[in-house]
Amino acid sequence: MTQHSGQPIFLIGFRGSGKSTVARLLAERLGYEWIDSDDRVEQQAGQRIADIFAEEGEPAFREAEARVVAELSRQQRTVVALGGGAVLRQETQEAIRAAGPVVWLTADVDTLERRLAGDPATADRRPPLTDLEGRAEIEDLLARREPVYRACATFEVDTQNRSPAEVVEAIVANLDAQP
Ligand code: S3P
Repeated sequence: MTQHSGQPIFLIGFRGSGKSTVARLLAERLGYEWIDSDDRVEQQAGQRIADIFAEEGEPAFREAEARVVAELSRQQRTVVALGGGAVLRQETQEAIRAAGPVVWLTADVDTLERRLAGDPATADRRPPLTDLEGRAEIEDLLARREPVYRACATFEVDTQNRSPAEVVEAIVANLDAQP
């Protein structure tokens, strides 16, 4: 069973799906460490994500993110919250799938929009990714990313109408059910 094997557990999903909050609570529940890939990128770069995008561009951020995720894939007994675009790279998909279970946290556009608007991390951490405005960007990117999240996930957990603690229990039940 996953909890006893010590494999890292990866949380994927769109911005605002609750990955960081759930990672912290899931780690507490399992007695694991937790790490957020965005935190690690910012620590290593000594810069906020918004500044990396502004000064070096998105490709430089994606390079740094891929290096960080490769490093985090080697952690044991750790819950890893990945940035929403980390799994767009084939090499990252392969690295995390080989390392441990991948949990896709889902929510509809209304919920994501509401959570993003209410999250103080949004300004520093979530620069625009397209020329579209708020909700239109979420719809556009979700349509393109959902097939990637689905293909990468070991299982998915709906976060809508569930508290973070309820999401954690749903994840643990799914982990217990894995062969
Ligand atoms: C991104 C999501 C962000 C952060 C960066 C890019 C994305 O992380 O990595 O702004 O491409 O969806 P969160 O998913 O933690 O907001």
